[in-house]
Amino acid sequence: METAYTQDYLRIVGIEHYRLAYFTPDLAPDDLPAALERYLEVLLDPLEIKPDHVVLDVGCGIGATTAWMVRRYGCRVYAIDIVADFVDAAARRFAGDGMAERATAQKMDALDLAFPAATFDFIVGLEVIYHFPDKQRFFTEAARVLKPGGTLVLSEYLTVPGAPRLGTQFVQMILESDKLETEATYRSYLAAANLSAPRLTDVFEQTVVGTNRAFRSSRYRSRVKAYSAVYFGLLFAAAMPAVYWLWEQLFKRGHARHVFMYSQKAATPAPPPGLSSGAAG
Ligand SMILES: C[S@@+](CC[C@H](N)C(=O)[O-])C[C@H]1O[C@@H](n2cnc3c(N)ncnc32)[C@H](O)[C@@H]1O
Repeated sequence: METAYTQDYLRIVGIEHYRLAYFTPDLAPDDLPAALERYLEVLLDPLEIKPDHVVLDVGCGIGATTAWMVRRYGCRVYAIDIVADFVDAAARRFAGDGMAERATAQKMDALDLAFPAATFDFIVGLEVIYHFPDKQRFFTEAARVLKPGGTLVLSEYLTVPGAPRLGTQFVQMILESDKLETEATYRSYLAAANLSAPRLTDVFEQTVVGTNRAFRSSRYRSRVKAYSAVYFGLLFAAAMPAVYWLWEQLFKRGHARHVFMYSQKAATPAPPPGLSSGAAG
């Protein structure tokens, strides 16, 4: 599980989000901080989150997304992560930013959400669910704690039917995922949890390719190399350009996908089985 080295990675690279960035053409190729925020603008602004909305940030890391949502939308956010060190860092950050009344950090497993049913208007999971071995359990929990009409927003990595096994294993290794799954499997999980069919957008050009370009730039190359050498050894650091090249190629050739995904809980609960409207008594 990502623990100390994640925080060191963030420190050395000089960023707060343990995920990819989203590069649009107006951003300089090495403007990683702006592209990390652009990711959130593209994914979350269309939801029109309001100050009276309650949001769950699943797998919050050190709380940067939660803090950004509170600042931008004024909403109430519950941030959870399974790693206690991240939760502590997030809580310190919320207190330091003077937003402790709007942002709460708790150590919690996303597969076992300690919240009452129908608590959240939105659940946000950025590069998190692909870590879970039992994704169905997460979707069932998410459906339970979403309010009717609430939206689940995910940024996820998928595999594709027929993708080369070695390629998929390589992507899983980079992502520290036990099991990447296909769009069809995600659709079946959502349907089984009574969530709507997802709306998906492929984003690897803006995220995988864009972030790789930033990491190759003179601004970030030596920082990423230093981190890799310390944590994974000199050999890995030397091989890194090839590793990043292969990672990008697997997306470009369609063997792996990075998607933004939205799914909703029905605004009115489905009637119990056997009861249809207008049925004679
Ligand atoms: C790739 S990081 C993304 C962090 C954050 N969402 C961001 O955008 O910076 C994945 C996060 O998911 C958390 N995580 C993994 N499994 C979890 C689980 N079962 N319950 C809650 N959080 C989990 C990890 O500890 C890590 O912080």
